This record gives sequence, structure tokens and C-alpha cells, in this order.
Amino acid sequence: MLKGKRIILGISGGIAAYKSVYLLRLLIKAGCEVQVVITPNGKEFITPVTLSSLSGKPVISEFFTANTGEWHSHVDLGLWADAMVIAPATASTIAKMANGVADNMLITTYLSAKAPVFIAPAMDLDMMRHPSTVRNIELLKSYGNHIIDAATGELASHLSGKGRMREPEEIVGELEKFFASGDKLKDKKILITAGPTHEPIDPVRYIGNYSTGKMGYALAEEAARRGAQVTLISGPVSLTANNPAIEVIKVTTAREMLNAAQQSFPEADYAIMAAAVADYAPQNFSDCKIKREKNGIENIPLIKNPDIAMTLGLHKGEDQKVIGFALETDHEFQHAVDKMKRKGLDAIVLNSLRDPGAGFATDTNKITIIFADGHSLEFPLKSKAEVAADILDSVCDCE
Ligand code: C5P
Repeated sequence: MLKGKRIILGISGGIAAYKSVYLLRLLIKAGCEVQVVITPNGKEFITPVTLSSLSGKPVISEFFTANTGEWHSHVDLGLWADAMVIAPATASTIAKMANGVADNMLITTYLSAKAPVFIAPAMDLDMMRHPSTVRNIELLKSYGNHIIDAATGELASHLSGKGRMREPEEIVGELEKFFASGDKLKDKKILITAGPTHEPIDPVRYIGNYSTGKMGYALAEEAARRGAQVTLISGPVSLTANNPAIEVIKVTTAREMLNAAQQSFPEADYAIMAAAVADYAPQNFSDCKIKREKNGIENIPLIKNPDIAMTLGLHKGEDQKVIGFALETDHEFQHAVDKMKRKGLDAIVLNSLRDPGAGFATDTNKITIIFADGHSLEFPLKSKAEVAADILDSVCDCE
């Protein structure tokens, strides 16, 4: 599974760095090409000679090689890798990663990395539970990084508690699991709607909402990573899709989103409706800016927008599944079930605006997935990237 994978192994300065030698050996044995990047403090714990002998590549630690002046491009490295693993990740490295403090080669590489990043924290128990570390780890999660949570047991300080770096075999296991999911959706076509819609009133005003599109874009990236061909119909957002397997169709209004969705739907195996479609649109568009003083804009006639999810849900083929979202503020579960039935959906992803960290404009979400047969799955607060993986695992039969 790991054969041929290009891995950046980032090592920072903690006693657990000795375990990174075993980790490196396991990765090489599994057929990976490994580039070690070590922090200046890391070198106090483990020598670059050991690491370069095992990896077969010079270890990178400085921005330049002192005698030749050769520049080590963190940008090229970040593009080269299939994954970056930072083990051990000390409290200081975690803090720098969380806050973009780019003062060594490991951090600049991390900031440039396009590949998924796995972080294995290791530190003493008090550092581990300090609110700053807890917050920094949460921040890293919210950026979509994978945290390989520290284990509890005896620590270098001879105290016992949480802070042990996970064993090299376990870290390799996490990587294997991740790469194994890479073709789970091979040959599947997935249509995803994302973002808000804007319904123009006049050249300077529109009806819209606070949706940022983050959940829909995270779903598109995760589906593409699993090998799906993705059509992402996106309302006006400031995000871009990274994976070339994602075809992005940009729209502005609900009508345009419906037209695009209807065009792509016949080909799709799954349609995931993550867009926050405006409920109403102005009946008429005014070519000129409506004057506040003259006509007033307090009485603009509105018309109801088409329901895209319902249009697809009620006309889907036997082999097609349509999944909707429900953002609720009260009687959440019942409202979501009613919505799922009314719109002919196979499942609905419920998030409550009462849950802190859920909903629009956050990097996290807390969801419950309700299925047409009545059963449901509840998940804790996670990054939107992790939530996307949970949704695809649950609704696309690909766990
Ligand atoms: O009815 P409500 O807006 O709460 O429904 C939410 C679900 O329906 C979401 O999946 C959303 O993308 C979809 N929807 C739609 N077209 C609309 C309104 C909602 O596709 N006009």
C-alpha cells in the first residue's frame, strides 16, 4: 500500500526522536521514498548521519547547505510529497505550525505542503494538557491536518500520563489506512453543490447568506482523493479546488445552480447538496441602482427559488443517491427527518446552530447523519475535512 509513496518525515527536538529512526526504517522497508527534514533541536537528539544512511538521502535541516550555498526549496519539497509526517511533534513545533512561525526548514516545508499532513505529538503530560497546546492541536485539526493522538503511559520524565508518541508501527498503520482509502470511490461520479447563491436585486445589491462553501469544497476534495470524478457546482465563494479531478462549475443564482445540477445529475452516482441556496429571489432585476429616496427598496417583490435537492431527490434513478444538509436551530432531529422525506433524500446531514463550532464560516462542524430507514449516526466536533470523510464513509458505502 505504501510502495512508491513519497514521504517527508519531519523530526523535531524531543526524546521520542529516537523512535523516528524505527519509523524511518519501517517506511523504507514498506517501499517509501523518504526525505527527512529535521529541526536544529532535533539534531541534538538524533544525528543526521543515522537518518541519511537509512533514508539514502541527505537530511535537510538548514535553508542553505553551508559550504555550497545550495538552497533547499521547501516549495519543491512540499509539492514532491504524497504525505508529510511530523514525528515527534513537540509543543514548540506544534505551536509554530499552528501559528505559521516559519523559522526553520520543517515549518516552511509544512506551510508549503500540498499533501496531507500527519502529526504525532510527543511531550510531557503537563505540556500536553496546557491550554495553549490543546488549542494549537485543535487549530491544526481545523486546518485539516491528521493528528495521531499521543498515547498514555510512562514518559521520559518518569511521570506517567498522556504524551507518549505513538509507536512507529501505529503511525505506519495510520498512513496505510489513509492511502488504502484512495480508490474507494474509483469510477464513481459525484455531484456536489457548495456555497451560497446570490440573487441580484440591482447592479449593487443581492439577496444572499453567510455560507462560505467550506463544507462542500472539503467534500469535493475528499471525494476526489478517493478516486471519484467530481462535479462541484459552486456559488460565489473565495475558495479554489486543488484536485484536478474536480470540475468546478461556477454559478451565481439558484436558477443557474439548478440548471447546472440538472445537466450533470443523469451521469452522477451520488449528489450531495451542501449549498445554502437562497430561498427567494427578486422577481425583477433592476438595470439601474434602485434609489433609496425615490422608489424605496422596502417592497421588492420576491419569488420562491426552485428547490434543487428536492428536484433531484424526487426524480432520481434507482441507483442514484441524493444527500442533503439541514442546518437547524430548534427541534433539529424532527425537522431534518421531515426535510429528508419531503425532498426524497436518501440521507440528511444535520448540523445545529446551537452547537458551538458548527455551521457557516467555521473550520469545524458537528454532524448527525440521518438515513431514510430511520437510523442515525452522531459524530463529535471535527474539522470539515474529517467531517467530509465521515459523510463519504457513511453515505457512499465506502468505509
Ligand atoms: O430547506 P432547506 O434549505 O433547509 O434544505 C436544506 C437542503 O436542501 C440542503 O441540502 C440544500 O443544499 C438543499 N436546498 C436546495 N435548494 C433549495 C433549498 C435547499 O438544494 N432551494
